[in-house]
Amino acid sequence: MKKTRKGIILAGGIGSRLHPLTRVISKQLLPIFDKPMIYYPLSTLMLAEIKEIAIISTPLDLPKFKKLLGSGKKWGLKLTYLEQKKPNGIAEAFILAEKFIKDSPCCLILGDNIYHGNNFSKILKEADNDYENSTVFTHQVKDPERFGILNLDNKGRPAQIIEKPKSPKSNLAITGLYFFPKDVCSKAKKLKPSKRGELEISDLNQSYIKDKKLKVKMLNRGFTWLDTGTFDSLLEASNFISLVQNRQNTIVACPEEIAFLNKWINKSDIKKAIKDMQSTYGEYLKNLIK
Ligand code: TTP
Repeated sequence: MKKTRKGIILAGGIGSRLHPLTRVISKQLLPIFDKPMIYYPLSTLMLAEIKEIAIISTPLDLPKFKKLLGSGKKWGLKLTYLEQKKPNGIAEAFILAEKFIKDSPCCLILGDNIYHGNNFSKILKEADNDYENSTVFTHQVKDPERFGILNLDNKGRPAQIIEKPKSPKSNLAITGLYFFPKDVCSKAKKLKPSKRGELEISDLNQSYIKDKKLKVKMLNRGFTWLDTGTFDSLLEASNFISLVQNRQNTIVACPEEIAFLNKWINKSDIKKAIKDMQSTYGEYLKNLIK
């Protein structure tokens, strides 16, 4: 029988490239135009129709995420909160969340990654339906030295992932969204810390390549993928969202809208949300149920 996939948003880290902005607040609580950054990865998981989601963050920031998102019931979700005491690497998420994941397949998204493009829910559902393999999503970048880069063999199959390569052989960056089968926790527990002292997601993905169980979906150039870890990328992301929303009169990453379209909440739930929302975001919700 099909097991429901669990979701994880990894929203800890130090945010050192954004100091002093992130001295007292998590990067993932900073605004991207009109909403907190975490709304974007949360919406991605909701588009994949994942309802049970663990938010992992630092002991300092976790209470703020709880205050912002609550139990998730207002959006038809079940949210769990888990601490990562130190940023010991992305793959540590699967050790921290082992009890939450149990023996389900799982999807991890980084809290500072934003995805926007046509057919995204279809792409996500295809990955969700594959219970045997892991799936990663690549996007072309101009500065491969900054990313985990995927090299393909001469038949176009995934061969090797190199973290921040000095002389890159490809420009296919692995983005911060990963679907894994139910064995992910046991695989993560076998990883050894890298030279920089982290449990690396690239090593975990490499172990699926070794088992011939890593599928790659290439996000094409019409698709936008942003990570928001630097001052410039933070501003660019806000400008991008503002541009798309104003041109199209839509809201990107509106959890109320996705939950409503997924039939997880109804009109009266949206009315409740509108009550304490005096902004243009609230106006948008009003139009949604007109
Ligand atoms: P990074 O951008 O690699 O790290 P960071 O957010 O601490 O920023 P900086 O490099 O400026 O210090 O992290 C990518 C995402 O993963 C981000 O959303 C934070 C999250 N993360 C964790 O939650 N825990 C971790 O141990 C690591 C390495 C990252």
